Amino acid sequence: MIKLRAAVTGIHGYVPDDVLSNEELATMVDTNDEWISTRTGIKTRHILRGESKGTSDMGAEAVKGLLEKTNTSPDDIDLLICATVTPDMQFPATANIIADKAGIKNAFHFDINAACSGQLYALTTAAMYIQSGNYKKVVFVGADKMSSIVDYTDRATCVIFGDAAGALLLEPTTEDNIGIIDSIHQSDGSGRIHLHQKAGGSIKPASHETVDAREHYIYQEGQAVFKFAVSRMADVSVEMMKKHNISPDDLDWLVPHQANMRIIEATARRMGIKKEQVMINIQKYGNTTSATIPLCLWEWENQLKKGDTLILAAFGGGFTWGSIYLKWAYDGSNH
Ligand code: UT7
Repeated sequence: MIKLRAAVTGIHGYVPDDVLSNEELATMVDTNDEWISTRTGIKTRHILRGESKGTSDMGAEAVKGLLEKTNTSPDDIDLLICATVTPDMQFPATANIIADKAGIKNAFHFDINAACSGQLYALTTAAMYIQSGNYKKVVFVGADKMSSIVDYTDRATCVIFGDAAGALLLEPTTEDNIGIIDSIHQSDGSGRIHLHQKAGGSIKPASHETVDAREHYIYQEGQAVFKFAVSRMADVSVEMMKKHNISPDDLDWLVPHQANMRIIEATARRMGIKKEQVMINIQKYGNTTSATIPLCLWEWENQLKKGDTLILAAFGGGFTWGSIYLKWAYDGSNH
């Protein structure tokens, strides 16, 4: 029987215009460029400003650009999955809103919330729909307006996050050794105590008290998350290499979640790969949560060649983590 796989056949990103630099942050909280640069690797992040602008606006821009560059009619999309932790609203799903804004009318849509690993969980889910044989064109979009849940009086978290969106088109292929080949995903709910949003859900609905206590912002115990992230992202990437006999020389690109330069470097070291094999743009965009991996692929698209071996790796709140092994499906320089 011919094996059906999901191939990534297009990619597009969206980054809002407004830039928030380390220098500007230093006028808002007690921090400085030197601390942020050495501890995180971040220099700037982009922020979505403007009345009534939400995650769906960035997601829709990424999706519209994707459809245009791949010459795909919105009518031909079967399914759109959005990974986000900053939905436009509790319901309906942001995927529904993005599809509406992008003119997608013949599909169904839903969100996945697995924090920063949502981008990989969503990509794997999208691939499964393609592999079923019943869906021909599936869009995955990772989008987050982190600035809507960042406390700009908390210097330990506000320096990290930025806003952006990225979208991928997946289609079936029967070509040998092309497409998404394997995924490893895991979660550990006991890790939620270290990274969460305290209010606004069913346990603690929004009230004057929760707003006064600043409980609608990200709560993060940075060091605990850091330790977990370093071990889990490296472990799961090494596990994928071993499972498929991928040597450091076989790997063309590691595409890691962009959370902290030190975490990315530690992962590369454990995998035995050189920094030149790693896509890194954290210095420009910071941690854009669900958008980091699509944004990297978008920026590196013209360097990607058909048959390139990629490992994508992420971790995030939950805790959640995982990796995807894929063979790139097209020469990016032609797109
Ligand atoms: O993708 C979502 C998952 N989240 C992550 O991956 C985040 C993982 N964690 C991290 O990236 C790091 O833990 C942080 C960047 C959040 C913090 O870096 P750190 O090296 O772990 O710093 P720390 O929290 O241990 O703080 C060290 C010192 C403290 O001062 P004292 O107590 O030593 O005097 C902090 O108060 O640095 C201080 N500090 C700052 N100083 C200047 C914390 N934030 C800042 C700041 N500017 N922005």
